[in-house]
Amino acid sequence: METPREEWGSKIGFILAAAGSAVGLGNIWRFPYMTGENGGAAFVLIYIFFVIFIGFTIMLAELTIGRHSQRNAVGAFEAIFPKTGWKFIGVLGIITGIGILSFYGVVAGWTLGYFFKTLLGDFSRLSGETSFQDVFAGFIGNPVSEIVYLAVFIGITIYIVSRGISKGIERWTKILMPLLFLIIILLVIRALTLGSGVSKGLSFYLKPDFRALKPEIFIRALGQALFSLSLGMGAMITYGSYISKKDNLLSSAAFVVLFDTVIALLAGLAIFPALFAMGMSPKGGPGLVFLVLPSVFDKMPAGTFFGAAFFLLLAIAALTSTISLLEVAVAYFIDEKNWSRVKAAVFTGALAFVVGVPSALSQGASKWFHKIPLVHIPFLDFMNALFGNYALTVGSFFISIFVGWKWGTGAAAKEIALGAGGFKLRAVWAFSVRFFAPFAIFLIFVYLILTGRFF
Ligand code: PFF
Repeated sequence: METPREEWGSKIGFILAAAGSAVGLGNIWRFPYMTGENGGAAFVLIYIFFVIFIGFTIMLAELTIGRHSQRNAVGAFEAIFPKTGWKFIGVLGIITGIGILSFYGVVAGWTLGYFFKTLLGDFSRLSGETSFQDVFAGFIGNPVSEIVYLAVFIGITIYIVSRGISKGIERWTKILMPLLFLIIILLVIRALTLGSGVSKGLSFYLKPDFRALKPEIFIRALGQALFSLSLGMGAMITYGSYISKKDNLLSSAAFVVLFDTVIALLAGLAIFPALFAMGMSPKGGPGLVFLVLPSVFDKMPAGTFFGAAFFLLLAIAALTSTISLLEVAVAYFIDEKNWSRVKAAVFTGALAFVVGVPSALSQGASKWFHKIPLVHIPFLDFMNALFGNYALTVGSFFISIFVGWKWGTGAAAKEIALGAGGFKLRAVWAFSVRFFAPFAIFLIFVYLILTGRFF
């Protein structure tokens, strides 16, 4: 007899775990620098539009596939339509998860490093000549610490994932997410009271200037929305597979989308006023938050305490995301290949580490990985765009086609209605999953191919 599938301990446990997957570096590290690089408020507006009209649609689609099939990202498609090519959406998802984990682990390692640096008071001792910029460049250019932090971070992820779903994942998230939220609010208050420059920062962030709108902003805003919500690679299929039939998928999806978006918007509200108050450029790229925030903490009472707490909580928020990145592959090997949880976690985690080494070395340690051939960008940025933008977008396209046209919105809506006591928005969701989401993604790709502006 089969043992029943592991389930979340409670509904709130699932919501927190899914929110834990969604909230992470995507909100606090990636969202602000993408906004900064892509013109500010106009990017934010398009981002919010995609979150509502594509993000929520795909979130519900993935959770539904997962709960209906009670299987991993590959097995789910196989269970609904056996022996068809649809399972390759899941295969793409597993590869994407490992690809994202590889560079995400590097940046997560930076947050750990910055936790220690802040705690040891490295930033309060800075003299005139060494700036925050020099500290950051020195830190990410050190090959040994980059690789060690990556290994430590992936090691912790492997450890938690190998202990299983409810014990490992649920317990952490419950306590730590609310704390992170609190510190971000404090940061926003400090940033908004920094004096001159604040209003310039606010208008960059909140007052759209559509003249700055370049067409490639659409793919970046869409990619960012999917990345931030953990969509397009089966993470929510996998997490959905552990949800009980009694739980309400609709309200869970809505909560996760809302919470994730609020955190990202608040992170921007903390960064941009501070950035302009300090006269820095919003186009700082992937180093942005590591350059801006230490100097905000430096200007805060008890800044060492809050700074250290912030970077520690950010590392933990990243951890609840890396757990879900690894879980997609791990659930596959357990369900389909009968591997033990420990074996699956160690194997896939080690693979992500090896793939992550070039990203770790690409920030100054190795010239070659700093400017890779053909695309002329650092390896980390390349992986970030390839997996973090394009793979998730392609995955989401096929997931919407699968639910909208193959499985059918009728069958999916039945699953959604279980535990939700009905599904009022069914027609809107069905329209979005069949037409709006795939068509919008398709158009964006046609444009990209025509212009060749991929990286
Ligand atoms: N959503 C995570 C973040 O915003 O940091 C990153 C992520 C996790 C993306 C899981 C995709 C995923 F499947």
